[in-house]
Amino acid sequence: MSALLPASLRADFPILHQDVGGKPLVYLDNGATSQKPRAVIDALVRYYERDNSNVHRGLHALSMRATDGYEAARTRVARFIHAADPAEIIFTRGTTEGVNVVARSLAARLKPGDVILTTEIEHHSNLVPWQQAAKASGATIRYVPVLGTDAELGLDLDALDRLLTPQVKVFAFTHLSNTLGLMLDAAALCARARAVGAVTVIDAAQSVGHEPIDVQAIGCDFLVFSGHKMCGPTGIGVLYGRRALLDTLAPAETGGGMVVSVTYEGATWKPAPERFEAGTPNVADAIGLAAACDYLDAIGRPAISAHDHALAAKAHAALAELPGIRIIGPRLGQPRGGLVSFAFADAHAHDVVTFADQDGIALRGGHHCNQPLMRKLGITSTTRASFYLYNNEEEIDALVRSMHRILKFFAG
Ligand code: ALA
Repeated sequence: MSALLPASLRADFPILHQDVGGKPLVYLDNGATSQKPRAVIDALVRYYERDNSNVHRGLHALSMRATDGYEAARTRVARFIHAADPAEIIFTRGTTEGVNVVARSLAARLKPGDVILTTEIEHHSNLVPWQQAAKASGATIRYVPVLGTDAELGLDLDALDRLLTPQVKVFAFTHLSNTLGLMLDAAALCARARAVGAVTVIDAAQSVGHEPIDVQAIGCDFLVFSGHKMCGPTGIGVLYGRRALLDTLAPAETGGGMVVSVTYEGATWKPAPERFEAGTPNVADAIGLAAACDYLDAIGRPAISAHDHALAAKAHAALAELPGIRIIGPRLGQPRGGLVSFAFADAHAHDVVTFADQDGIALRGGHHCNQPLMRKLGITSTTRASFYLYNNEEEIDALVRSMHRILKFFAG
C-alpha cells in the first residue's frame, strides 16, 4: 500500500508501546480521541515547568511569556486552518462548547418564521444546541434527510435544494460523520447556503486533524473542532468565526477578561477573540494544541488523509466479506473519511467491543451520540473502527481476525 505513512511515526507516540491484557495494543478508537505524540506532551510539561502564569493580566516575566505562548498558539491555529486573521480563532473547551457558543449567540437574532437547517447525520453536539436555539427563539429546526440503506448511505442533496429557502438563517452540518464516515463537500454546501443568505456552521471535529482544511476556500462563517482528536490535549478546542460576523454577536458567557469597561449599571464588550473568552483561558492546552498543529503539518494532512483512507478501504473491504456483518455508511469510492462502521446480525456492538478488547483492540460501539440517526436506520448501535497516522495494515489484520472470532462465538 504505497499511500501509507512511514511506520517510524509510531515511535512518536509513547502510549502505543504497551500490551493490553497480554496482547499488543491496537488502538482503533481515534474517532473518540487520538493519542498524543511526545512533542505535544513535552510542550505541556515545558509550559508547566517554565512559563505557567495567568495571561493578559500580569506585567511580570512569567505572565508575559505565558501570554506570548497563548497568543502564538492562536496564530498557529489560524495558520492550521488558513484563517485570515488570528482574531478569528476563539479557544473553547472543545467542539461541543464551540457549537453552543454560536448557537446561543445566533439564537438572540432568530425569530419565529426563521429556519435553522441541519442534517439527520449530526452528532448530538451539533444537534441539541440547535434544538435549544430553536426553542429559545421560536425558530423552526429542519433536517436534510439521509438517503439509502446500509453501505449506500448519503445525504439527500435534492432535498437540500427544497429545504434551503430564504427563511433559512443558519445551516449547520458536519464535515465528516463520526458514525457513517460520510464526508460532505463543505465548500459546495456553503456556496448553496450563501445563495440564500444563511450563516454556515461546520462541525469539523472528525476531519480537521485528518484532512486539509482551508476555511477561506470553504467559505464558511463558523467552523468548530476539538484538540484531542487531532493529537492535541483534551479540554481545548477552537471556534473559528469570520471576523465581520464575530464582532456583531453577543457573547455567550460574560465575566473577566472580555470587557472594556464595567460600571454597577452594565458593561461593554471587547471585540473578538476576547469577547468570547471570559475568565482565565486554558493556556497550557492551547500551547499543546499549537504543538499538535506543528506535528501534523510536518507530516502533511494530504499524506495523513491518504494513509487513513487506505487503511479504512482495506478494513471496509475485508469486513464486508465476513458473513453476518453489514457495513453502515457510504460505499467505497464515495467521499468518506478514515473510519468504518459496521453492525453484526447477531451481536450487540457493546459485546463486540468487549470481545475485541480481549484481543487488545480498542474500538467504539454504541449509538455514537447519533440516537436519531440510529432510529432512522432501524439499528440500535454500530461498531466503529477509526484510523489515524500511527495505525498500520497488521492492525487491520488483527481487527479482522478478532471479528472472525466473535462471529464464530455468536454462531455457537
Ligand atoms: N464524538 C466522539 C466519537 O464519535 C466522542 O467517538
